Amino acid sequence: MLEQKLKLIYDSAQKQISEASSSKNLYEAKVKYLGKSGELSLLMKEMGSLPKEERPEFGKVVNKFKKELEALYSRTEQSLKDQELAKQLEQESLDLTLPGPEIANGSVHPTPLVIDEIVDILARLGYSVRTGPLIEKDWYNFEALNIPPDHPARDEQDTFYMKPGYVLRTQTSPVQIRTLEKEKLPLRILSPGSVFRCDSDISHSPNFHQIEGLLVEKKVSMADLKGTIYFFVKEFFDKSVKIRFRPSFFPFTEPSAEVDCSCPICKGKGCRMCKNTGWVEIGGCGLVNPKVLKAAGIDPNEWQGFAFGFGIERMAIIKYGISDIRLLSDNSSFFLKQFT
Ligand code: DAH
Repeated sequence: MLEQKLKLIYDSAQKQISEASSSKNLYEAKVKYLGKSGELSLLMKEMGSLPKEERPEFGKVVNKFKKELEALYSRTEQSLKDQELAKQLEQESLDLTLPGPEIANGSVHPTPLVIDEIVDILARLGYSVRTGPLIEKDWYNFEALNIPPDHPARDEQDTFYMKPGYVLRTQTSPVQIRTLEKEKLPLRILSPGSVFRCDSDISHSPNFHQIEGLLVEKKVSMADLKGTIYFFVKEFFDKSVKIRFRPSFFPFTEPSAEVDCSCPICKGKGCRMCKNTGWVEIGGCGLVNPKVLKAAGIDPNEWQGFAFGFGIERMAIIKYGISDIRLLSDNSSFFLKQFT
């Protein structure tokens, strides 16, 4: 009885395994006959109904069949896999002559690009970079720069106030004080970085960038300052640009001047960039106010200095003829990839 049953199971298992048309069918056949609760396992459980002396022999036969079926399973599995792979390769044949997907190359953003260029130019005159915190003490951002609490310059620089005594720095000038406090003189430093003012329209962004320059030596004149700015602005834009200094006021410099250059876009003829004046404003400068040196613990009778501050976005807009300051923060790759 049991032997007959075994034979039947073996025959149908052999048939189903060898004729399986897919890996899935094959696996189902394996579970059905060879699995833990498959037909062969169930049959083994029935072995108890056989006379004791027949059981070992029967067990052996079951195991032999099981091994054979397992071997058959492995062979069938391999050949099905080969067939399926061959079919897949045929369906997914690759045309190696087709062009691949375009790889998007990165490019340097114009803001750091301009910073790097300015730093490179002024490094040739012996300047090196210093940085300072973005959340700045009122003392460094204002007071030490000769801007006392009730000074109108505080309103002009629409300040973001933080906890008492702290502001988001409105200018990179505080790095002057921080450097003067801890470094040996003479020195020539540049301080590029982010600044913040609560102001936002086509030409103003609440977060923008400046680069500050400071030179302190025993004897410094307005002529030294002008020579430095002439060199730097001409190297940055083009040797043909003209530069003019307009008398101005900054609390931290005396005398102070604003710096304009002839519009590099229209070469001074008049265009949208320069609002038809032929000139564009690029920064401020002056001889360091003795009060500022004193605030940093330096004797103004012994040392003198000049300083300048330029807007990075402004320099970028003018150099590259960018029509809207917001393009610099829009993150559009169409715009940015021009600056490779
Ligand atoms: N800190 C000034 C501003 O944000 C720019 C400036 C003007 C910096 C004159 C200077 C300077 O160092 O001498 O408007």
